[in-house]
Amino acid sequence: MKVTSKTFLKSKKENKKLTMLTAYDYTTAKLIDEAGIDAILVGDSLGMVMLGYENTLSVTVEDMIYHTKAVKRGVKNALVVTDMPFMSYHISVEESIKNAGRLVKEGGAEAIKIEGGKEVVPQIKGIINAGIPVMGHLGLTPQSIHKLGGYKIQGKNLDEAKKLIEDAYILQEAGVFSIVLECVPYPIAEHIAKKLDIPIIGIGAGKGVDGQVLVCFDLFGMYEDIRPKFVKQYLNMGEKIKEGVKKYIEEVRQGIFPEEKHSYNMDKNILEKIIKN
Ligand code: KIV
Repeated sequence: MKVTSKTFLKSKKENKKLTMLTAYDYTTAKLIDEAGIDAILVGDSLGMVMLGYENTLSVTVEDMIYHTKAVKRGVKNALVVTDMPFMSYHISVEESIKNAGRLVKEGGAEAIKIEGGKEVVPQIKGIINAGIPVMGHLGLTPQSIHKLGGYKIQGKNLDEAKKLIEDAYILQEAGVFSIVLECVPYPIAEHIAKKLDIPIIGIGAGKGVDGQVLVCFDLFGMYEDIRPKFVKQYLNMGEKIKEGVKKYIEEVRQGIFPEEKHSYNMDKNILEKIIKN
């Protein structure tokens, strides 16, 4: 059944855990959707895992539209959420609505995700007023990497924890349908999940929240540049891919591949005529 932002709220009420994974292309999105995931995030992590940038800051609205379009073509049931990239919602409310609108209209996103708390409330309200569901993102917000001083756990001291809890309430009040909570101590994450009416989706936030999200290539065991503690590799695809490629190289070099069953034959008489000519 098709998952919507309303399904998210219903799942929270029914105490059902939500599952979310990132995807950036048609084939991966199709496989993940067919496996029964609730939501697919076209995350701006694509800047790192698909495009090889050092961080997410260079990702553009055009990049997000391009990848959302590909994902949408592969998805039947999952809710497709697209990240608003760095600087696409920082200039003005008007520009934020315009950019969110492009992600929906041109990309096919069914909801968008924005990083930040109190400071992005006017943008969030404007986008929701335009009819677009918004997912919040608190804790470690990778677009603020330079301000945070690195990919570090957030909300460990009293002031940070208070701000985190306050921001979560403010986002709920602003109308977001869910919040991603990244890299925060699990007792704080659990406290927020218990207090709020909207689902809290954790990544590095423990199991006391309403659902989990991971970057798909982390789960597949394909992305090794950064390996945060919160990642669980369910597969070893990186090694498997390298194994397969090595075998292919070997077989091509030794003339083993392609075999007859991989090749096309033709009528002998025609072939003879061609050769004679
Ligand atoms: O961009 C992304 O992949 C994300 C997840 C890590 C939540 O925002």
